[in-house]
Amino acid sequence: MSRTTLSRYLIEQTRSHNTPADLRFLVEVVARACKAISHAVSKGALGGVLGSMETENVQGEVQKKLDVMSNEILLEANEWGGTLAGMASEEMDKAYQIPGQYPKGAYLLMFDPLDGSSNIDVNVSVGTIFSVLRCPGECFSQNDMLGEDAFLQPGTRQVAAGYAIYGPQTMLVLTLGNGVKGFTLDRELGSFVLTHDDIRVPERTAEFAINMSNQRHWEAPVKRYVEELLAGQEGPLGKNYNMRWIASMVADVHRILTRGGIFMYPRDAREPGKPGKLRLMYEANPMSMIIEQAGGAATNGHERILDLQPQALHERVAVFLGSKEEVERVTGYHRS
Ligand code: AHG
Ligand code: MN
Ligand code: MN
Repeated sequence: MSRTTLSRYLIEQTRSHNTPADLRFLVEVVARACKAISHAVSKGALGGVLGSMETENVQGEVQKKLDVMSNEILLEANEWGGTLAGMASEEMDKAYQIPGQYPKGAYLLMFDPLDGSSNIDVNVSVGTIFSVLRCPGECFSQNDMLGEDAFLQPGTRQVAAGYAIYGPQTMLVLTLGNGVKGFTLDRELGSFVLTHDDIRVPERTAEFAINMSNQRHWEAPVKRYVEELLAGQEGPLGKNYNMRWIASMVADVHRILTRGGIFMYPRDAREPGKPGKLRLMYEANPMSMIIEQAGGAATNGHERILDLQPQALHERVAVFLGSKEEVERVTGYHRS
């Protein structure tokens, strides 16, 4: 039986959907970096990769060793290939400049190198999330510094988005804007093999994901919605709901892509100045593109996430995503 590897899928996309060769190469290199991160993650205590650094990232979060290692793996893999005008990451304050000795290219790559950091040391699934934008015309120059502005494009402009999940299996889930494909890492072959050909999010669901410990800080529409979910069959929604919260967005979204559900990280009153915890550019936007491409929906409670005009590289956003019916319901509660 001939198997479709990621490389073969990408070549087929070049033929059938005019995927440019440099975008194909870029995705291949990101996938290669994810393989290296997967190896590092799976070594755990044997590889000395667990635990924290003594540093904080720009968001004031303590960095884990694997946050820093994964960031370096992604930078080193991607900086020399000539496909990128620049990169941005959760772990770096400013845009990363392609070193002068390397050619520059047409794309911008953004990533959350290690998502779910709090789960690293407890051997629970973590992942890498990435988003690819085209660099606006004027940022092409070989000599100029790349500014933050080039990245501040709405999620609708993403040309590719994906994540790798490092769980019982390592998988790469990818969209190039025409559906969502899932590839499982075959460790003997060293290749990602297409195993999930057309991932669709069921429209209806009876499963929700939210960190309930923040309940007292939520805004009224979220309180109302979750109360209704908890009321079950006797409540206004007339059915019993189950709850899951892994605290790795990658793992929660992967479950939702597999069997449906709604994921919520609303804004709350703990830090009133911040519109949520998750980051728009390299968490919410790529995940929203994947979810929409799989037939689901993603909003910030008011608007479609992919339509938001970003103001800053590390901007935060409230997130409601997953099965359409439930995302529309909770978004409706914010409007009424
Ligand atoms: P990161 O590890 O990249 O900082 O992201 C963690 C995020 C996300 O993956 C997860 O959904 C959420 O934080 C969990 O937050 P709580 O610990 O507040 O539940
Ligand atoms: Mn994250
Ligand atoms: Mn992270």
